[in-house]
Amino acid sequence: MDADLEIIVIAAVSKNGVIGKGGKMPWHLPDDLKNFAKLTKGHPVLMGRKTFESIGHPLPQRDNIVLTRDKELKALGCIVVTSLSEAISLASSKGTGKLFIIGGAEIYKAVIQSANVMFLTEVDVEIDGGDAFFPEWNEPDWEEVDRFTQIGGNNQFGFTVRELHHVQNIKPIGTGSSGNGFCNLDNARNSDQQETMRRINEGGYCPFCGDNLQKNHSKPILFKGAHWLLTENQWPYPAAKRHLLAISIVHAEKLADLPVEAGAELMEIAHYIEKELGINCGAICMRFGNPSGNGASVNHLHFHILEPDPEKSDPLIFWIDRKKPSS
Ligand SMILES: NC(=O)c1ccc[n+]([C@@H]2O[C@H](COP(=O)([O-])OP(=O)(O)OC[C@H]3O[C@@H](n4cnc5c(N)ncnc54)[C@H](OP(=O)(O)O)[C@@H]3O)[C@@H](O)[C@H]2O)c1
Ligand SMILES: [Zn+2]
Repeated sequence: MDADLEIIVIAAVSKNGVIGKGGKMPWHLPDDLKNFAKLTKGHPVLMGRKTFESIGHPLPQRDNIVLTRDKELKALGCIVVTSLSEAISLASSKGTGKLFIIGGAEIYKAVIQSANVMFLTEVDVEIDGGDAFFPEWNEPDWEEVDRFTQIGGNNQFGFTVRELHHVQNIKPIGTGSSGNGFCNLDNARNSDQQETMRRINEGGYCPFCGDNLQKNHSKPILFKGAHWLLTENQWPYPAAKRHLLAISIVHAEKLADLPVEAGAELMEIAHYIEKELGINCGAICMRFGNPSGNGASVNHLHFHILEPDPEKSDPLIFWIDRKKPSS
């Protein structure tokens, strides 16, 4: 599966945050629509069921993915999915490297934290009586890389299109909360792991953030959702039959750094490992908080999925700290 899928939010928003009124967009901006078509054509687009109903037909020259909780829903000319992770894996399989999130409010809210890029059309108008709003977003987490303003033409209002890149998603450089780097060498379990982690700390980057993962991690990505990606542990516990890691897509250290939706996706992964990987016995263990106490070797939230191996006589132990259990 493609771990490099870029998730791109594209939306038009009024000065008071409105994106819809009575199930429709409250403006007519043909030049913005042209720009929307130019950016999205050739790539999969994801929309909520209500936005699909508002448009009324699939957008041409794009794979149209419609998200609903209704397993029976049919949408002519579209692919219907019932979870965000299903949408992401489907979009990955299309191989264009991009998934455009085209609304509405509920979908934007669900993905904005894990989106990489945003094309935001700020429409120069205040809309009264709007009933669909763009979600809250934290401007300092985004870097503006481009903007242009359009006034006049056949457009009902002037507007500015901003291209923003999510910087908060990736912590390339830093020392981690321990002050020594993102890896905790005391918790490395063999010399290969220790040496790799020493190099990572010298480089000063978080090994689980964004593209950094590929620098040291050679295992395949088994599942990628909006909040987690699932892979094999590079240094599995010797007594485990299978040892997988689910890694938060955004840099997180405390549990409260993650949105509650990440919890629901955790259960999707749990279903995936049972149904798709056939793991029907084991434990799911998440470490959180201070790595000097929780036993983690990387200070970026992840959880372990451990399947025991009945063939091996050694016990499968998940250490939280290095203290030996008292007898
Ligand atoms: N200005 C813009 O750029 C822009 C762009 C797009 C849309 N809009 C406007 O936004 C408004 C629509 O937004 P909306 O928030 O009301 O609806 P929406 O986001 O388009 O669709 C919501 C529906 O999506 C499905 N859904 C949402 N989260 C899901 C999840 N995690 N798993 C499975 N299904 C999920 C549910 O469908 P079911 O109910 O079928 O289960 C839900 O009712 C309209 O006014 C539209 O014109 C504006
Ligand atoms: Zn990180």
